[in-house]
Amino acid sequence: MASKQSPSHVFLVCYPGQGHINPTLRLAKKLAAEGLLVTLCTAAHFGQTLQKAGSILGGDQCTPVGNGFIRFQFFEDGIVEINPKDMNLDRFVAQLELSGRPSLVDLIKKQTAENRPVSCMILNPFFPWTYDVAEELQIPFAVLWVQSCAVFSIYCHYFHKSVPFPTEIDPTIDVQLPILPLLKNDEIPSFLHPKKTYGVLGKAMLSQFGKLSPAFCVLIDTFEELEKEIINYMSKIIPLKPIGPLFLNSQKLEIEVSVDCLKAEDCMDWLNSKPPQSVVYVSFGSVVFLKQEQIDEIAYGLCNSGFSFLWVLKPPSEFFGKQRQTLPEEVVEKIGERGKIVQWSSQERVLSHESIGCFVTHCGWNSSVEAIANGVPVVAFPQWGDQVTNAKFLVEEYGVGVSLSRGVEVNELVTRDEIERCLSDVMTGGSGENVFRQNALKWKKAAAAAVADGGSSTRNFQDFVDKIRQI
Ligand code: UDX
Repeated sequence: MASKQSPSHVFLVCYPGQGHINPTLRLAKKLAAEGLLVTLCTAAHFGQTLQKAGSILGGDQCTPVGNGFIRFQFFEDGIVEINPKDMNLDRFVAQLELSGRPSLVDLIKKQTAENRPVSCMILNPFFPWTYDVAEELQIPFAVLWVQSCAVFSIYCHYFHKSVPFPTEIDPTIDVQLPILPLLKNDEIPSFLHPKKTYGVLGKAMLSQFGKLSPAFCVLIDTFEELEKEIINYMSKIIPLKPIGPLFLNSQKLEIEVSVDCLKAEDCMDWLNSKPPQSVVYVSFGSVVFLKQEQIDEIAYGLCNSGFSFLWVLKPPSEFFGKQRQTLPEEVVEKIGERGKIVQWSSQERVLSHESIGCFVTHCGWNSSVEAIANGVPVVAFPQWGDQVTNAKFLVEEYGVGVSLSRGVEVNELVTRDEIERCLSDVMTGGSGENVFRQNALKWKKAAAAAVADGGSSTRNFQDFVDKIRQI
């Protein structure tokens, strides 16, 4: 058993994806800074990727953060044993559970045997089977929801069948939920649409709603001021704690732990050489992989716009056998120093750089919050999942940009002319004041206040830490 002086041990389990591990590590850092022992646990193949990128150390190594510590642990997943030719998302998700479940149970039992019993688990919505593990081992658990509260509400209402959603028989009906604006049928998260791109992930997220009731709270990487009414409404159904933007808090904790899957290329000298608000930053997150045809159109759009640009063109995932994308030679010759292409950037640093004028984004929730909280307007270019819903909110509710796409379901090529026009609208703001930038700056201020001393997210986080200490 642990001695009385042992810090509480919080065990976070994270789905193997950049969009998940970033907010999870940010939360882990904050918890450790409070004097807790924090273990961040993810799948073994993903752990190897992070180690290869030089991001983290493996084994039982503890990194001190504030008054506490962070350590990484990996559960077995059997992923690298699968022939890439046979790999698809359904197989991937099933394999994670098959190997992961018994391995996770062993890992947690090992913590007790090694004199640091787990006091509380923080789980991930893509891993509903981890909720069963927590119940089986009788460990209290909370959940870290890494998308918006609006999206949480949509999944929750879909699960409880409280309002009609598009079906195979009637795929075009619009969705009216309490508090939220009317969502056209293609504005709900695509995992819920009858066409169901990557529906296996939607299935996982929905199944967690049937297992949520024992969770003592759901932490959300958003802030009250951004989604006030929907947070108030949903809090009456499930205990929610908005504690974001988590990346703002974790920036203050200057420790050498990052979780990038690829080594970030240094762009700071290049950005420093550009005037304020003159650069278009382009990134489609860690999973979206556009068709070469679409890459060509973006390349010409950027080239013809005349703006400087920094573009993250990551290599394809090792698992799903895609071809590396290239830029048209004509564009490469024309852009010279005006464009910089990198495989991976330190996005938090890029978005906070004064040279950035706008962000062409796929609207993953992390990228959306990072843009808003840095006061950067967006050109929304969503593909699937929650991205289509986030794009609607960024454009119509938060007023920080324009939208270029309605997602992959529409299967339309966005042309170079449309891209050029949208870039011009968002970079210059049209004729008068740049209203997109003004709105973005308003959200930046609200986000900073939420994570400041006494701010809404700080208070919610403190309540959560107090609860953990009482366990
Ligand atoms: C996925 C889903 O696609 C997204 O819709 C969901 O909300 C979360 O899980 P991802 O597509 O990777 O995430 O997008 P996003 O949520 O934006 O997360 C990407 C993270 O990688 C961000 O924190 C971003 O800062 C970081 N990043 C991205 C970099 O650090 N460097 C890069 O070059 C690109």
